[in-house]
Parts: sequence; structure tokens; C-alpha cells
Amino acid sequence: MNLYAVILAAGRGKRMNSLKPKVLHEVFGKSIIQNTIDAIKTLQPEKLVVVVGKEAQEVKEQIKDKTVSFVLQGKPLGTGNALAEAKNKFKDLRGGTVIVINGDSPLITSRTLKGFLKKHKNAKNDISLLSFMDYSLSGYGRILRDTKRQVKGIIEDRHATADEKKSFRELNCGIYAIEPVIMEYLSQLKKHRTSGEYYLTDIVGIASKNNKKISTYDCPPEEALGINNREELYRALNILNKRSITKWMRKGVTFIDPSTSIVHPSVTIGKDTIIYPNTYLEGNTSIGANCMIYPGVRICHSTIEQKVSIKDNTLIENSTVKSGSTIGPFAHLRPLSRVGRNVKIGNFVEIKKSDIGDRTRASHLSYLGDAVIGKDVNIGAGTITCNYDGATKQPTIIKSKAFIGSASQLIAPVTIGKSAYIAAGSTVVRDVPSGSLAISRAGQKNIKNWQVKGKPKVKKRK
Ligand code: UD1
Ligand code: CA
Repeated sequence: MNLYAVILAAGRGKRMNSLKPKVLHEVFGKSIIQNTIDAIKTLQPEKLVVVVGKEAQEVKEQIKDKTVSFVLQGKPLGTGNALAEAKNKFKDLRGGTVIVINGDSPLITSRTLKGFLKKHKNAKNDISLLSFMDYSLSGYGRILRDTKRQVKGIIEDRHATADEKKSFRELNCGIYAIEPVIMEYLSQLKKHRTSGEYYLTDIVGIASKNNKKISTYDCPPEEALGINNREELYRALNILNKRSITKWMRKGVTFIDPSTSIVHPSVTIGKDTIIYPNTYLEGNTSIGANCMIYPGVRICHSTIEQKVSIKDNTLIENSTVKSGSTIGPFAHLRPLSRVGRNVKIGNFVEIKKSDIGDRTRASHLSYLGDAVIGKDVNIGAGTITCNYDGATKQPTIIKSKAFIGSASQLIAPVTIGKSAYIAAGSTVVRDVPSGSLAISRAGQKNIKNWQVKGKPKVKKRK
């Protein structure tokens, strides 16, 4: 049977108190809605429709997925109205099972969704919903049951009486599997007087009155959370991050304090790597085996091979570090940097769009930008590649085994030949042939008795 999916994402998200649409807030490296889309796509629906509202353009621009179709809900008239808009625009939603999910549910897993759909189909229900038991949460719809435990409807928290709140603790997740016969009831939904909205949840009461087959299935409570405000956003991030870190611990990675590390879902980490507190591994990052990631490190979209040490307070973006190298403390690898094997990049070194050859050392206080540096080069403390002439970026090439003395400035474009030697404090403006010494600092003068001569004369008091 055909399967369609509708994600409701047109709400105002007022409780976020934000200028940005709620579903575009980021949780764990992806927008809230992208998390929901990724989970629902594993069901391989024939069509995936996202209902968007006033900020439609902004949401569409963020969702670059070509398989997603959009429907505009002109006014946020409630979840029932949102699904009705989707049904009106896409006629084929009337010809199969429709999975409906709130766009603010980033924690739901593909496993739960697949199990849910299977149970819905096997039981031949007209409508199924995911629910969970909770005694503390507020703001959710409550599943109403009769004395025979048959589902009679859903009452939203804000409309429930104290008695109903006490008696009905089973909460609605906002995830439904709906057959065409039930979709037809959308036109019967009534506007709520106080909120001015059409609730999708009311469709369950209508189905019950028409003796349709309704069932609820358990959702693990930690997958049920909807994001309405910043506290829930934080809680969701925590749950997703814990899932990720637990997975890597089981695969042989040590975390010194997992509550202060963030490991995004697309990151991979090799065995016996040790990760210290306050570390962020983001985007498409892969860390090899036996690495040390010390406190305060952030690594985004980068590849770190095995046996690498990234020392405290280092930032690595879109770069590669080969095996056996040491980076930091306080180093910054900016995008498109490639660091070879057994390299040492030390304190306060910034590297941008440069290749650093195997065993090369830049141990202290340097800027290396647009440079191609060979193997076994020594970059002295305070070396600067002056790569920007105010208009364009220029390259610096340093061939293998060169020695760059401390506090040298290499004015690009310039090439330093193999085994060349730059005397400390030089400003290099021309290419240096291999094996040569370049020295360009001014000669030193020592002026005798300077201190005595230079002192202002003190007049004696009479
Ligand atoms: C909804 C359910 C509630 C359930 C809870 C689970 C209703 C009436 N209530 O409440 O029973 O326990 O989810 O998280 O459905 N949206 C639209 N158009 C609108 C209004 C909302 O597309 O006009 C979208 C929102 O962007 C959001 C989703 O629908 O992604 C749910 O809306 P929200 O306002 O968050 O509903 P809840 O109050 O959380
Ligand atoms: Ca919600």
C-alpha cells in the first residue's frame, strides 16, 4: 500500500521567543526539522510533504532536499488545518496511509517509526498514534479512554479539567498513521473557541464516534519530546548527544567527562582515543584511533588520522592532520590546511590554506597562510608569511629541510629553496636558492656610554 508522509512545520513557535522559525533552530548539528525529515525518510514514503507557514521561504531555503514538497498554510490555524491544507494540495494523500508528524520532534528514531508503521498495518487500524506515559510533563494532549480502555479522543492539556489531568496520564506524541477514511474527517474539525485553532487531535474523537479502529503504541519517552521552548531544545540536544557518546564509548572511545563533550551524529572516532572535557567534534569529522583530544578543543569537518594529539584550546576547521602529529596548545588550523605525518604545530600558531610536510615543526607564534611547506622544515618562533598585499593573496613555498630563523617575515610570493637558511629577524623579499643563507636585517651598532649620555642632566639646587 502507498505511504505518504506529512510534516507539520507551519506553527508560529511563539514559545521560542525568537525571530527565527522554530523548526530552523539547531539541535545537534542539524535544524530541528532536518532531524525529523531524516527520521521519516527512512520509511521511504512515496511523497514527503512539509507544511510551512509565514516564514516559508526561509524554511524552504534551509531544506535543500529535492524529494521534499512544500505546502503553504496561509494562517497558523492549527495542526488540523495544516494537514487539511496538505490534503487539499496533494490529491494522492487520499490514496494511502499517511504518516503525520509534528516538525518539532527531532528525537524520534527510525526504529520506533518503522515498528509503529508495521503494527499499524498488521492491526489494520484506521488510525494509530504513538503515546507515552508521563506524570510531570505539561502541554501535551492526553489520550482519553473509556472504562473498557477504548480510545475515545484526545484532550489538549490547556482544555483539560483537573480531574481529566489526574485520570489520563497517557500523552500524545504528535505522530499518527492515518488511513484515507480518517483523512476525510478533516473537514469536520471545529475551530476551538479559545484558541481559534483546528486541532488534528480532535480527529481521534470523530473516528471513535464513527466506530473506527484506533490504537495507540508506546513510544520510548525520550523520543517523544516536542520542542516548544529553549529548555526543551537544550533537553533534546542532551538526549541526542548522550545517545551519540554512549555509542562511541561502546566502540572503545574514552570520554573523561561526557557531559561536557559534544559529538555530532556524522562524526566517527577510532578505538582507544581519549577525549577530555569541553570538546566539540562537529560536522563531518573523523578522528583516528589512539588520538588524544585535550580540553577546550573544537574540530569541525576535519580528518584527524591515528595517534594525533590535539592539545588544549585548539580550533581545527575543514582540515586534515596525518598520523603522529601534535597540534596546539592554542593553535588554529583554518580551512584547507593539510598537515603531514609527525608534524609539530605548537603554541599560538595559525595555519590557513597551507600544506605542511612530514616532520616539519612550527613550534611557536607563527602565521602560515597560502604556503606549501616541504618535509623536515624548521619554522622558527614568530615566523610570518606575509601573504596579502592588500589586493590578492600570494603563495609562499618553502622546500624541504629549510631552516627559517625566528621572527622572519617572508613577503609572498616567494620561494625558499631546499636546505636554505634564513637568518633570524630577516625580511625576505626575493627567492632564496637552495642551500643559501639569506640575511636581511640591518647591521648592529653598539653606542658606548649611551645610558650616561642619554640621561637628561639634573640641575643642582642652589
Ligand atoms: C501538539 C498536539 C499535542 C501533542 C503535542 C506533541 C495538537 C493540537 N496538539 O501540541 O496533542 O501532545 O503536539 O508534541 O496537535 N503547526 C502547523 N500549523 C499550525 C500549528 C502548528 O504546522 O497552525 C505545526 C508546528 O509547527 C509544530 C506542530 O505542528 O511543528 C505541532 O504544533 P505545536 O503548536 O507545537 O503543538 P503542541 O502544542 O506541542
Ligand atoms: Ca510542540
